[in-house]
Amino acid sequence: MNRFNFPDLGIGVGLRTVHFKHILGSQPDVDWFEALSENYMDTGGRPRYVLEKVAERYPIVLHGVSLSIGGTDPLDFDYLRKLKALARSVNARWISDHLCWTGVSGRNVHDLLPMPYNAESLRHTAERVKIVSDFLETPLVVENPSSYVEFTTSTMTEWDFLAELAAESDCGLLLDVNNIYVSSFNHSFDPNVYVDAIPADRVVQVHLAGHQNHGTHIIDTHNDFVIDEVWSLYGRACARIGDVSTLMEWDADIPDFETVHAEARKAEAFRGSRESGVGGRSDGLDQREPTTDNRQPDEAEVAYAAV
Ligand SMILES: [Fe+2]
Repeated sequence: MNRFNFPDLGIGVGLRTVHFKHILGSQPDVDWFEALSENYMDTGGRPRYVLEKVAERYPIVLHGVSLSIGGTDPLDFDYLRKLKALARSVNARWISDHLCWTGVSGRNVHDLLPMPYNAESLRHTAERVKIVSDFLETPLVVENPSSYVEFTTSTMTEWDFLAELAAESDCGLLLDVNNIYVSSFNHSFDPNVYVDAIPADRVVQVHLAGHQNHGTHIIDTHNDFVIDEVWSLYGRACARIGDVSTLMEWDADIPDFETVHAEARKAEAFRGSRESGVGGRSDGLDQREPTTDNRQPDEAEVAYAAV
């Protein structure tokens, strides 16, 4: 268990639009869903409706891409207010974003840009993490990014930076083992060293995903199955951390829901003794009360999902 007592939710799948109809209609036996915060913050339409229906049945975690925690622009409190309201409306178990910056001078480049890792950027980022966590009234969970370039001004490794950031700002960590593999290939470091250096009690979640290997570099495309080397890293992480909430990301060339879920469930082989039965939690967070178990979706719900 991590130091925040955030529960092991089991094995989840990223909530994606192409699966809305299937999820609402079939109510698959998934442990939990991760929703991309920005897709639901500025809409009261169908996406928000679907998320709230899903949240009635499954635990939800919010995952953002626009916080720009490492950026130099002022923190966007309008964004944070909307994020906090969304988290409350779906009872989000925690809120995560990436160790990166996403723009400057008010312009969002819609990409997760890498940071220099040094004492100055550490101080700057830790201060912002503390402000965000205080505002959200929950520890922010920070994910390690994939990167393709490094800064000559960096004086520490990414794993040391993350460990110090977590200690300084008291944040949680989302360990993306695919991102570790991608960056280790692109920057020629040993991914096992990275996994072994992460403070285990800070890790509240793990990401799995596929990527594209172009020989000279890897692009983090989230469009394929998880490769064996990444599964090995996941196993190594589980051995250190223990069973931890695990999420499969598939964001391009997305196959049918069952294919994504089956890939996610391969994680079972690396996890220790958890309760059998999908959704069965030992932490009292199972939302599947008898009143909703095995219920049939109402007609309006299915009709809406089919739009
Ligand atoms: Fe990730």
